Amino acid sequence: MEAIKKMKSPLPSLDKILESIVGYQKQVPLLNGDMTQYINFDNAASTPALKPVLDKVNEAMEWYSSIHRGTGFKSQLCSELFDQSREIVAEFVKADIEKDAIIFVKNATEAINKLANRLPIKSDEVVLVSKMEHHSNDLPWRANARVIHVNIFPDGQLEVQDLINKLKKYHKKVALVAVTGASNVTGWVNDVNQLARICHEYGSKILIDAAQLAPHRAINMRPHHDPGHIDFLALSAHKIYAPFGSGALIGPKEFFEEGDPDYVGGGTVNVVTLDYATWTESPEKDEAGTPNTIGVIAMAKSLQTLMNIGMDKVAEHEKQLTRHMLKLMSEIPGIEIYGSADPEVVDNRLGVIAFNVKDMPHALTAAILNYEGGVGVRNGCFCAHPYIKMLLQLDDETSKMLEQQMLEGDRSNLPGAVRASFGLYNSILEIDRFIEILKKVVNRKYVGNYILNKKEGAYYPEGHVQNFQNYLTI
Ligand SMILES: Cc1ncc(COP(=O)(O)O)c(C=O)c1O
Repeated sequence: MEAIKKMKSPLPSLDKILESIVGYQKQVPLLNGDMTQYINFDNAASTPALKPVLDKVNEAMEWYSSIHRGTGFKSQLCSELFDQSREIVAEFVKADIEKDAIIFVKNATEAINKLANRLPIKSDEVVLVSKMEHHSNDLPWRANARVIHVNIFPDGQLEVQDLINKLKKYHKKVALVAVTGASNVTGWVNDVNQLARICHEYGSKILIDAAQLAPHRAINMRPHHDPGHIDFLALSAHKIYAPFGSGALIGPKEFFEEGDPDYVGGGTVNVVTLDYATWTESPEKDEAGTPNTIGVIAMAKSLQTLMNIGMDKVAEHEKQLTRHMLKLMSEIPGIEIYGSADPEVVDNRLGVIAFNVKDMPHALTAAILNYEGGVGVRNGCFCAHPYIKMLLQLDDETSKMLEQQMLEGDRSNLPGAVRASFGLYNSILEIDRFIEILKKVVNRKYVGNYILNKKEGAYYPEGHVQNFQNYLTI
């Protein structure tokens, strides 16, 4: 263990990075009244802000003004930064700034909905969506098209051969293939350029939902003429250390110049008379209303900071964390991991680890980790109900029964798992502290008497009140 603790992080300046995570040092209360430094293992949901991002936000606020049509100096300056941000986003994902529109939106969900609304889909066409998707890359397609789901293997990996079979079966009728870059449940990373190559071979275009992939791996959309070129990509800044309400949809300008925008109003038009309107050029055409200038600058600053650190170094550091965590978890009996539990399989997966403790509700495990360990994780279905159902191998009868219970307002038996997910700033020492408390859960050595709130499906320690007003008020 000592050897592992002395392991050198592939990140050249992990200590500096720790200092640059806003709120990293925050102490939180435990059930026994002690205070402890918070461990955030819920990065797959949202990451904290990087300090250079917060500093840039504060600096930008001093210059904040309306963009694009304002004539004052501040407006011109903010417009300039807004446009520079497009270049930085393009650089981060290696998009072609000449050919691609970088459309700013509020998050990946909005990006995918926008594409679903904007994609012309004929009544005899289908959209292929994998069974490992977050709801945000499934429901928008169901709302706009006939969706055919691509199978996964029992360990949660995409069955690429099934994608090929379906591309063949629906040849010339596939309006789009929509696949995640990485799973927010098992952490499996898809070979996105290889998937793009396959789709193009069968004459289809591909959308990569990069919400989960972008904070952890380098992304290369590749040149438009490259067979592995990614046609469309969705990003969420709050998962990339810039939680200020922005995201991006990236895709060919040529595509977005066709058709009507899904949202219309200020900013989208060229000429408006009482009888008609003509649309402005892409990307402004698809950015109706006043944009989130500060959020966009924050996202650009974060991506710039990550590029300076080096995404390959971030990936190496997180692989080291994943390897360490899986190794220690494998030594604890009674833990089931969904996806891969192999500490040596870290290249094609992220540090997103979904697991359950044998005979222990996931909500109870998560509660104990919080109240007795000061560790923030997430539990439940992670907005991927069909995927979780398959990973848990729930049969149809059980699923129906549980669905009925939930529809009746009782979430006590909500199927799911606990998810620990890493960011670039997490450390081996934090994992060791997590494992200590996890062992207490497994060995039933926790101290609280946890009561289930059936409506929420959450557990709370009896008689304990959180004095939130002592920490933050509005
Ligand atoms: C893989 C994946 N796609 C899409 C989303 C949706 O992102 P957002 O909530 O930022 O729109 C998430 C969020 O967890 C995700 O993990």
